Amino acid sequence: MEKLRVGLVGAGGRGRAHANAIANAPNIEFVAVCDLDATAGEEVAEQYGSEYIANTSELYARDDIAAVGICVQTPSHHKMAMEALEAGRHLVTEKPMAASLSEAKEMVAAVAEAGVVAALSYQLRFGPVYAKMKELCEEIEPLQIFFARQRGMLVDKYMSPEPFDGIMDFISHDIDMVPFLAGRKPTALLASLQRDTWGNAGAIEVASVQIEFGSGDDKIVGCISSSMGGAGMPERLDVVGRNGIARKEGNSIYLAAGPNPPNPPEGARPPDPWCMCFEGEARDFTCDLYEHWAAAALDAEVPVAPAASYEDGYNALLLTLAIVESGTSGEKIELEEFAAAQG
Ligand SMILES: NC(=O)c1ccc[n+]([C@@H]2O[C@H](COP(=O)([O-])OP(=O)(O)OC[C@H]3O[C@@H](n4cnc5c(N)ncnc54)[C@H](O)[C@@H]3O)[C@@H](O)[C@H]2O)c1
Repeated sequence: MEKLRVGLVGAGGRGRAHANAIANAPNIEFVAVCDLDATAGEEVAEQYGSEYIANTSELYARDDIAAVGICVQTPSHHKMAMEALEAGRHLVTEKPMAASLSEAKEMVAAVAEAGVVAALSYQLRFGPVYAKMKELCEEIEPLQIFFARQRGMLVDKYMSPEPFDGIMDFISHDIDMVPFLAGRKPTALLASLQRDTWGNAGAIEVASVQIEFGSGDDKIVGCISSSMGGAGMPERLDVVGRNGIARKEGNSIYLAAGPNPPNPPEGARPPDPWCMCFEGEARDFTCDLYEHWAAAALDAEVPVAPAASYEDGYNALLLTLAIVESGTSGEKIELEEFAAAQG
């Protein structure tokens, strides 16, 4: 089997998951790992039998490395990605895409110019339950999508007032997932945010967001609810559609098909409208993401989707900034106007 020869940039906390995914993908050869921190880089290199490279200039001087995974902290994504694109390498970049929209725009343009396969690390898209929910959404015509993922306090390195830090870093996945499920372009949003509810770094710690897709009878509304005060709360993903309702519980999805569950006849035991239609499995979806991305890089016939493209990353960043703007001003944001105002 032809294998994509990949180098990893960044062997920190999240970099370990990338290393595991790269090492386990059957269509990837894990050639090298690059980190400014030699201890972190050498440790990962040794664990996976790959080579340690001290800096990215040396990495890109190696023409036997066709592609890279970029897993450095968000403010460095743009610099690291532009360097990789200039060297003509396929790449997976961690989310959120960049620290600003102008950076993200440059990255999208650079991918088009380089003609490489670029994906964002929104690995939930590869989770079997999320993929199944996406398929069901196409059948039941969503009216409302409710996605609630809670957590405890983030570690200090994510606690800053920046729009991509705090709970916004965590819900970056949700901000990608809700439009992915809706299958439509978001048109407007309204957000309520709270900073410093438990900490004191100025970080956003509580987020409640309502995103609209389309208008009038054709409207879908997506809700995202997340906070750092909800450790241990089960995740909720509920979709109410014109033609059915679906809910995710753990790795299972329950579906009640049809416009509305029928009312039981008088005195009869109500039928259970829920038929469990799907049982997924728990695993690190980053592995699936890398395998798919490598397949797309090796074969021009394989599309980047369902991986998030750089355009998807740009759209998620636009939503993120609009959420922060709405949470600050208290105003509903019309996204087309907002995007135009960003230049
Ligand atoms: N997709 C997810 O589920 C998920 C989960 C956690 C974090 N993340 C994202 O992953 C990214 C990295 O987060 P982290 O927690 O691993 O950060 P980290 O600080 O733990 O690791 C970053 C690593 O990059 C190295 N590095 C920095 N600049 C470098 C350079 N120029 N060349 C080579 N190495 C360099 C650092 O030495 C460090 O080891 C962030 O953007 C974060 O938002 C994504």
